[in-house]
Amino acid sequence: MDKKNIDWGNIGFGYIPTEQRYVSNFKDGAWDEGGMTEDANIVLNECAGVLQYAQTIFEGMKAYTTEDGRTVIFRPDLNAARMVDSAKRLEMPPFPAERFIDAIDQLVKANEAYVPPYGSGASLYIRPYMFGTNSVIGVKPADEYQFRAFVTPVGPYFKGGAKPLTIKVSDFDRAAPHGTGHIKAGLNYAMSLHAIVTAHAEGYDENMYLDAATRTNVEETGGANFLFVTKDNKIVTPKSDSILPSITRRSLLYVAEHYLGLEVEERVVPFEEVKDFAECGLCGTAAVISPVGKVVDHGNEICFPSGMDEMGPVIKKLYDTLTGIQMGHLEAPEGWIYEVK
Ligand code: PLP
Ligand code: COI
Repeated sequence: MDKKNIDWGNIGFGYIPTEQRYVSNFKDGAWDEGGMTEDANIVLNECAGVLQYAQTIFEGMKAYTTEDGRTVIFRPDLNAARMVDSAKRLEMPPFPAERFIDAIDQLVKANEAYVPPYGSGASLYIRPYMFGTNSVIGVKPADEYQFRAFVTPVGPYFKGGAKPLTIKVSDFDRAAPHGTGHIKAGLNYAMSLHAIVTAHAEGYDENMYLDAATRTNVEETGGANFLFVTKDNKIVTPKSDSILPSITRRSLLYVAEHYLGLEVEERVVPFEEVKDFAECGLCGTAAVISPVGKVVDHGNEICFPSGMDEMGPVIKKLYDTLTGIQMGHLEAPEGWIYEVK
């Protein structure tokens, strides 16, 4: 397969349109058979549910070229399942998990020339999404929907790649208790836009959101879960019903325990405890695991001993092991790697 002529090593996390995307429509209570289209534009009625009441959900995963030249996708079954959960919470008809996998398979195959070559440091980001398409003016769910998925080649989510980040403790809340923080709804990201623009304007890379009810416990950032390392090398990650159950975080906990022999704890993490950790990272599909050097709470700086120059040693081991599994250098646990043939 000839690859596109793209400067793979220097692309950021942006949108590079490709020729092919997948589309399927839901009408009269059923999904149609779906298929590929070259049309990147969507024409909607002015009163479409997504435009009026933000009825939209999405997913994010990546495809890679392995060392031996295969095209693989990391754990798409978990994205399919999470999208079903997101749909149910927003009163949308779930796109069946087996249809999701088939759609992603067709999509990546059709765009194989855009899967970055092995060793380039880039990957193919896959963005499935669905939204209410018919007109709704009273507050209620739509009854027609579109599921779509496109791909875009991407480099690192944070500029500077592996350089440790500076995080601000946000004065805004991302998600309410019993709200929608645990699903991947567009509305959660709309909520975070003012907070991230504010943080960037003040020179921070990302926000740390605390729990909205008590503002005492660590939740997550706008686009990644937290992972901490204690001074005695234990992995600790926040447990909360209002954070997104990150597939990367779940995979890293498994890697920590089963590949690296580390103890792992998923539990409530009081913000008070952050100053005692040795290392901190942000984990997600886009972020992979990005090191955090400093957390700033209203002028009070918490500097992790791992410093501002490089990844701490445990985060580095987690990063190397996870990416080793994704790139095919290390044997993957059963079912983690989906091969596009
Ligand atoms: N948290 C939020 C709010 C996210 O948007 C993401 C990205 O998908 C994550 C966490 C990480 O989740 P995953 O590892 O499944 O990509
Ligand atoms: C992802 O990691 O897939 C996300 O959706 C995060 C987003 C902020 C790009």
